[in-house]
Amino acid sequence: MNFKGTHIVSVRDLCREDIEHILDLADGMIPIARGEKSSSLMKGKIMATLFFEPSTRTRLSFESAMLRLGGRFLGFAEPGGTSVKKGETLADTIRMASAYSDVIVIRHPQEGSARLASKFSDVPVINAGDGAGQHPTQTLLDLMTIRRETGKIDGRKIALVGDLKFGRTVHSLTYALAKFDTDLTFVAPPSLQMPPEVVELAGQMGARTQLANTLEEVVEEADVIYVTRIQKERFPDEASYKKVANVFKIDLDALENAKKNAIVMHPLPRVKEIDPEVDDTKFAAYFKQAFYGVPTRMALLGLVTGVLE
Ligand code: NCD
Repeated sequence: MNFKGTHIVSVRDLCREDIEHILDLADGMIPIARGEKSSSLMKGKIMATLFFEPSTRTRLSFESAMLRLGGRFLGFAEPGGTSVKKGETLADTIRMASAYSDVIVIRHPQEGSARLASKFSDVPVINAGDGAGQHPTQTLLDLMTIRRETGKIDGRKIALVGDLKFGRTVHSLTYALAKFDTDLTFVAPPSLQMPPEVVELAGQMGARTQLANTLEEVVEEADVIYVTRIQKERFPDEASYKKVANVFKIDLDALENAKKNAIVMHPLPRVKEIDPEVDDTKFAAYFKQAFYGVPTRMALLGLVTGVLE
């Protein structure tokens, strides 16, 4: 597809070839992302980062990507200091950012907000997380991690573990993995299982899916164990969060029967679901995964602004 001017709202808007093209370009960006090679690819371009929800990795890796490519950015990390506080609508905020920049990156608590934003923007809008909806750029870096750290995506058995109900990263990742030849196991207590519509659509797209309640059921089989945080901020009340708060704890015991070459991934931030004792083992891929956010976002920014093809 011709990416120039396209909004990236859901990974479902991309076909497998589009995804592979982004990942190929991202591979080539690694030396620039590491600061080993300089680039002026995005010179003269401005990215607006509009973050209505907290973020560390997503915002900073977008900004790092832009700076390392010689571009610049403006925006806000929380809306309190903007006219949103005065009651300005999302549509008007987007119209303004679109007038001041070449690409908009938005994170917002409401599902569907990025799609709405794209309707009011003359420049490409990239969804950096819309409530419990989608998180397509996280998915691209997740796929880059699977491809680079296990050698390929096709044929992989992937266990998605944790808060599959409210976690937007696993919704997007499921749709993307369904475009490849993968076996997906959704590991969660019943109250946090993957929404039925996501499971159904992934099945229609060709994914082989199954449900499980505990990691023990799948740990021996999995090539990738993708762990997620329980999304506290999306629970209706504290009591219902507390019931499931510490349901998963991935430590060395839990990984005892894992495949030798299995990797553990996590979009981060982690709270208590991965014990730090895992960090120094060969299973831990989550910090590399976070780094891959820079080259994937470089590739995507280049494509949607038309400086890359
Ligand atoms: C995730 C998110 O914001 O959805 N974080 C991220 O972007 N790496 C995951 C989370 O907050 O649990």
